[in-house]
Amino acid sequence: MKTILITGATSGIGLEAAVALARQGHRLVLVGRTPNKTDLAIATVKQRSSSAAVEGLSCDFGSQRQIRALAAAYRAKYPRLEVLVNNAGLVTPSRQVTEDGLETTFAVNHLGYFLLTTLLLDLIVQSAPARIVNVASIGHYQGTMSFDDLGFEKGGWSVMKAYQRSKLGNVLFTRLLAKKLQGQGVTVNALHPGGVDTPIWDKAPWYAKPFLAVMRWAFLITPQEGGQTLVHLASSPQIEGQTGLYFSDNKVTEPSKLAQDEALAERLWQVSEALVTPSAPRP
Ligand SMILES: NC(=O)c1ccc[n+]([C@@H]2O[C@H](COP(=O)([O-])OP(=O)(O)OC[C@H]3O[C@@H](n4cnc5c(N)ncnc54)[C@H](OP(=O)(O)O)[C@@H]3O)[C@@H](O)[C@H]2O)c1
Repeated sequence: MKTILITGATSGIGLEAAVALARQGHRLVLVGRTPNKTDLAIATVKQRSSSAAVEGLSCDFGSQRQIRALAAAYRAKYPRLEVLVNNAGLVTPSRQVTEDGLETTFAVNHLGYFLLTTLLLDLIVQSAPARIVNVASIGHYQGTMSFDDLGFEKGGWSVMKAYQRSKLGNVLFTRLLAKKLQGQGVTVNALHPGGVDTPIWDKAPWYAKPFLAVMRWAFLITPQEGGQTLVHLASSPQIEGQTGLYFSDNKVTEPSKLAQDEALAERLWQVSEALVTPSAPRP
């Protein structure tokens, strides 16, 4: 039985993956945005998996203070972390800024993964063999990384540009972290879950809705199907030891050229570190 922490576990891909992993007999710690949603997710996963080993913690990933509190609460309660699944993600209908002064999509989707993982990294290493699974997206292929305007403050924000940048961040972070953890018994992989019919797209701006309606009707898979690659990376013995990879539909897939740019990954790491260090000057 592994202890698995999964963020964004109150809905969609995260909730379905949690049910599947609980059915496999693992201990699940579900992270939801609010205590109410988290409690509901715990009850749902327990009921659908018939497992009693399902607990929860709450955190809004738009708040670095809450991410630090989440890591501290996890450490206070659990001595091991064999699998960390970074899955919580969003889009916003317009450009928004978090309480830390950062563009919300980048803050939640990329810095949320970065900060939680780095805060728990020593515990994960101590728990080896262990895995880190980052839910990225096919959207990363269109992603760009502009360090002089990461949050589109100077203009040019769009829901997809912000989302694609955050998801490129997920793949760059995955590959560099895997390299840093070589030889320590911890694998790190990223995935695209497929185009999945979940509430994430409900927050898209009105002008994207007709396109999304066609997508939903014609192409989108169910959250249960969308959770399969995540479950595979989190628990399958078949991928033991594989690391630094990007998976789509359970298969290793080449990520974008930018996602393979090692200098870009190093720079993003440094900038992310500065952005999550409360007293550091903003790059
Ligand atoms: N659906 C797709 O087609 C698709 C495709 C590629 C990648 N993905 C990725 O898959 C992951 C899961 O998305 P999904 O499609 O399953 O969407 P979803 O059903 O909306 O689930 C997203 C989860 O993340 C949580 N979340 C969002 N913002 C948060 C915040 N600020 N703090 C804490 N939790 C937050 C949500 O909590 P609430 O319930 O409180 O909102 C929810 O539990 C995301 O990383 C997404 O980028 C999805």
